[in-house]
Amino acid sequence: MTDIQELLLSRIRDVADYPEPGVMFKDITPLLADPAAFTALTDAFAEIATRTGATKVVGLEARGFILGAPVALRAGLGFIPVRKAGKLPGATLSQAYDLEYGSAEIEVHAEDLAAGDRVLIVDDVLATGGTAEASIQLIQRAGARVAGVAVLMELGFLPGRRRLEAALDGAPLESLLTV
Ligand code: PRP
Ligand code: MG
Repeated sequence: MTDIQELLLSRIRDVADYPEPGVMFKDITPLLADPAAFTALTDAFAEIATRTGATKVVGLEARGFILGAPVALRAGLGFIPVRKAGKLPGATLSQAYDLEYGSAEIEVHAEDLAAGDRVLIVDDVLATGGTAEASIQLIQRAGARVAGVAVLMELGFLPGRRRLEAALDGAPLESLLTV
């Protein structure tokens, strides 16, 4: 493990039985409160944005907003929010996806993405991959290409990576930590 990975891991707090019994919640608020760790994370994601030739950064509501916005600025790129349904005022594209119980829907302003854009998707956690997969579909339906998906941590005991690989069509899935 690199020094940066050790720093990041040391600032993620495990909270048992949250939000429900049997779930170990990965709390990133200690990382956000530590400017050295937050800067290291932002720099690592910005390097991925530059290396993959991204022209835009998409952040996934809510925690992907916190992590993605500074990455966009650091890489000199625009930031595009992918929001939970019903929050964006303009013409949107929507994508539904399944949750363990029920379903969810995310949206993006259609005018924010165009053919020729290469989009880096940023989020904190890859679990089942449902949220990230739906965001890939949104970006592709907008006519843009996915440069890659960058997450702080990947839950290695869940099949999120396998689920995304087909959708990514060769674009990289970069996780800084596997937990
Ligand atoms: C969490 C997490 C990821 C997503 C990962 O978001 O921040 O976005 O779940 O799960 P998946 O890979 O199974 O889709 P959530 O919407 O629960 O909360 P948030 O609004 O705090 O980001
Ligand atoms: Mg989230």
